[in-house]
Amino acid sequence: MQNSPIVKMPRLIYGTAWKKEQTCDRVVQAITAGFRGIDTAGQPKHYHEPGVGAALRILQAQGVMRDRLFIQTKFTPISGQDPAHLPYDPSAPLSAQVAQSLASSQKNLGTDYVDSFVLHSPLSQWSQMMEVWKAMEAVYFQGSAKILGISNCYDLEVLKALYEHSTVKPSVVQNRFYRDTDYDAELRLWCKHRNIEYQSFWTLTANPQILESAMTQEIAESHGKTAAQVFFRFLTQIGVVPLSGTCSEIHMREDLEIFSFELAEREVELFHAQLR
Ligand SMILES: NC(=O)c1ccc[n+]([C@@H]2O[C@H](COP(=O)([O-])OP(=O)(O)OC[C@H]3O[C@@H](n4cnc5c(N)ncnc54)[C@H](OP(=O)(O)O)[C@@H]3O)[C@@H](O)[C@H]2O)c1
Repeated sequence: MQNSPIVKMPRLIYGTAWKKEQTCDRVVQAITAGFRGIDTAGQPKHYHEPGVGAALRILQAQGVMRDRLFIQTKFTPISGQDPAHLPYDPSAPLSAQVAQSLASSQKNLGTDYVDSFVLHSPLSQWSQMMEVWKAMEAVYFQGSAKILGISNCYDLEVLKALYEHSTVKPSVVQNRFYRDTDYDAELRLWCKHRNIEYQSFWTLTANPQILESAMTQEIAESHGKTAAQVFFRFLTQIGVVPLSGTCSEIHMREDLEIFSFELAEREVELFHAQLR
């Protein structure tokens, strides 16, 4: 089964990691500013899903209904969890862990479905990976997730194998966007040919050399924008969906303003050259 083209993913997504008790306020602020996508995870160590749920209730009371938002959460395998705060029983079979994690996310978020359900990282053994993916497919077939995805998948062979052996194909890859992986150039191209959306994180923090380069500064100045804005704009123009987890209201607005201008083909080429 091909990945579903029905779900419309916003071209920029608000990330909720590391905000702890500030999560609710920041999510309300981001959605009020104009973000429509929210990224979270069933990983209490880094994400406070109940805070996202509280924000969704406030937003709903203000007239921002659930169906206008794209909500993405993740199943985090035990290796990525704090054993003292788990959204599932670690002694249960992997398939049950996935179901329990999603049930916990649904409760936290106060929603009976998520738009996207992402495997936080590949599992070391292929049999485990398939058990988890089959359980995620079950979630999809129940209608509790509209699309499925995978994160921290830097080995194209692993992604190809998952694509080949799955019934519900991955629709999302969420990866760290940095030089060490050649910016996933080959993997992104492969994804593009299969309508798999590539989401980036660490986009600003891992790339100071791009943000500070004379070329970026010049392009930013000519558009009257910041370096972060033109870099985000470049990424959206080449089909990448960046995540922004900014806590600043000014940066939220600046991030959203990237859709009010367009880089010329030559400028896109100049940015491309900086990824090589
Ligand atoms: N799948 C995974 O394993 C994984 C791992 C990491 C992150 N994520 C996801 O990705 C999201 C984003 O995380 P991230 O690691 O990319 O970093 P981030 O949380 O977006 O932080 C980036 C830094 O850039 C600054 N910033 C943001 N927008 C800016 C702008 N327009 N101009 C200038 N500075 C700006 C922020 O400072 P201010 O707050 O002051 O603006 C912050 O210090 C997370 O919340 C999470 O949802 C996923």
